[in-house]
Amino acid sequence: MLRKVNFYSICFAFGLSVLLILAGSRYTDNINYHPSIESRRNIRNFLRVEDGDIVQPVYEPTVSFPYYDSMDNEKILNKTSFRIKYDLSTYNFSHSGVQKLEDLLMEAGGKPIRNIIISTWRSGTTFLGEVLNAMPGNFYHYEPLLKFQIVQIRGLPLSAEALSIIKNMLKCNFDGLDEYFEYGKKHLYQFSHNTRLWDHCKYKKELCFDAEFTGRFCKLFPFQSMKVVRVRLRLIQEILDEKELNVKVVLLIRDPRGVMQSRQHRDFCQPAADCWQPELLCADMISDYVAAGRLLKQYPDKLMVLRYEELALDPNKTTLNLLKFLRMGMTSSVEKFLSTHTNVEVAGVSSTFRISQHVPFRWKNVLDFDYVDNIQEVCKEAMDLWGYRLAHNSSHMTSKDFNPIMEYVVNQ
Ligand SMILES: *[C@@H]1O[C@H](CO)[C@@H](O)[C@H](O)[C@H]1NC(C)=O
Ligand SMILES: *[C@@H]1O[C@H](CO)[C@@H](O)[C@H](O)[C@H]1NC(C)=O
Ligand SMILES: *[C@@H]1O[C@H](CO)[C@@H](O)[C@H](O)[C@H]1NC(C)=O
Ligand SMILES: *[C@@H]1O[C@H](CO)[C@@H](O)[C@H](O)[C@H]1NC(C)=O
Repeated sequence: MLRKVNFYSICFAFGLSVLLILAGSRYTDNINYHPSIESRRNIRNFLRVEDGDIVQPVYEPTVSFPYYDSMDNEKILNKTSFRIKYDLSTYNFSHSGVQKLEDLLMEAGGKPIRNIIISTWRSGTTFLGEVLNAMPGNFYHYEPLLKFQIVQIRGLPLSAEALSIIKNMLKCNFDGLDEYFEYGKKHLYQFSHNTRLWDHCKYKKELCFDAEFTGRFCKLFPFQSMKVVRVRLRLIQEILDEKELNVKVVLLIRDPRGVMQSRQHRDFCQPAADCWQPELLCADMISDYVAAGRLLKQYPDKLMVLRYEELALDPNKTTLNLLKFLRMGMTSSVEKFLSTHTNVEVAGVSSTFRISQHVPFRWKNVLDFDYVDNIQEVCKEAMDLWGYRLAHNSSHMTSKDFNPIMEYVVNQ
């Protein structure tokens, strides 16, 4: 009898310590910024497609932390600021054109390094966004315009509101963005990609919806990145014109055949002409080309154009060039992200683990030539401008010798 009791109490003690260790390690994850590890776990457990652009790995903690309820916001802010200093303690700030961290902190009167990725749905922004978010001290604004649903914003009236949201967020001003927060309440993935914020607000959801907290949290970060798939480049001029913001823009382009293949079977896409009509996609590509030429002339060091295929074929070199353009130095965390995300293939729709040399050209073996021919017919001009070669017939398209990409220049 006694032995039995002992046995059960040992089991109980063992179980309890396992639980404590688990809880402890979850909490450690929360204060250590390891987005790659975090997202790998997420993808395994929560692979699903919701809106727009990506799989939305929303990680809902299974263990709740009474500790978090009592931890006040000041403490979280303090911890975060401490953590950023620690993570960047070996960073050479001369890469970012300043001497020290404080020069990049709004909170300390400095000016952060800000960048925006401009693209459209299914063009590789998830991967690129996560590369930049692997930088320590990065605040990832993710998609500020999710609430607009599946539409392209090409001008007034939507552009006025969209640009004002983008500008305010880049200034870490979340006041008055009620609709943004309301949308996020029902679509938590709006916040979960912002891993540094989510690390805290996943335990205390009201923080995710708190404009004042989000603003103060945001101001602690030296690097601010954003991705936008709903606004065309032409309109972004207004943001570049605002010298005070000092934003750099990356225009990410992808072969329309790859884009359309990737948009197939996406429920979010079917009802929206902006998403399923290749002629609209390609008209936007032409508009982006013209805008890129004009902006490169006006702001040669503020815009970089990048084709997704180049990123996939040589992620290391492309990332290095990109970081240099954005005034950021390579860090071990970015290297680690690249080494763990560029070769491994994980089943599932758009996990960022899939990027490899084959991904951008998958359409060649998946699409019917008839469909490709339709796309090419309406996209000929856009493809010509951006350096995408036409496939002549089915056997040409699937042949190993057919290289869909060629050189291109953006005429200024
Ligand atoms: C913040 O942390 C510092 C130590 O890094 C400490 O001296 C300070 O009292 C803390 N402030 C608050 C409000 O907790
Ligand atoms: C930081 O980088 C610059 C060049 O970008 C270099 O001249 C300088 O020596 C580096 N500083 C340190 C401490 O490594
Ligand atoms: C890219 O860089 C990572 C990290 O430095 C490395 O592990 C990987 O092998 C590199 N990939 C290629 C294709 O060079
Ligand atoms: C397909 O296109 C290639 C390249 O233009 C051409 O050489 C070949 O003859 C074509 N094949 C057929 C069956 O039309």
